[in-house]
Amino acid sequence: MRINHTGEVCAQALYQGQALTAKLPAIRSAMEEAAEEEIDHLAWCEQRIRELSSHTSVLNPAFYGLSFGIGALAGLVSDRVSLGFVAATEEQVVKHLDEHLSDIPATDRKSRAILEQMRKDEAAHASNALHAGGHVFPRPIKFGMTLLSKVMTKTTYRI
Ligand SMILES: [Fe+2]
Ligand SMILES: [Fe+2]
Repeated sequence: MRINHTGEVCAQALYQGQALTAKLPAIRSAMEEAAEEEIDHLAWCEQRIRELSSHTSVLNPAFYGLSFGIGALAGLVSDRVSLGFVAATEEQVVKHLDEHLSDIPATDRKSRAILEQMRKDEAAHASNALHAGGHVFPRPIKFGMTLLSKVMTKTTYRI
């Protein structure tokens, strides 16, 4: 859950960074709805971590900064790149959630319910971003993003 929480911290940062630099108001409002759902996700993860008597990652501020920068940069390049980045990121998140759902015991129904709802929302965020005109990222970029997300999940799993 700590990994998912950090992911949601990054989602906040990404959407906020993009909102700052998005050119078309329509894009901005399209992203706002997703951003609101991300706030729910963040709150669910945080509450579940507390229920499990664990703690959120100490690395969150660093990942927030990094994601905010990437989001703002993507928005500066173009709205299509920015939306494409959302789509590619959310696809990664869906993959992670699938992995986590297969790792979490069937008895932990509370965690599963959260992750299942998140998976549904993230998949919708990805397809909405593509429908709004998001650029489909080439494979090498997606591969780079996978590596980056591995670093994130490996570190936040521990601290
Ligand atoms: Fe989310
Ligand atoms: Fe999302």
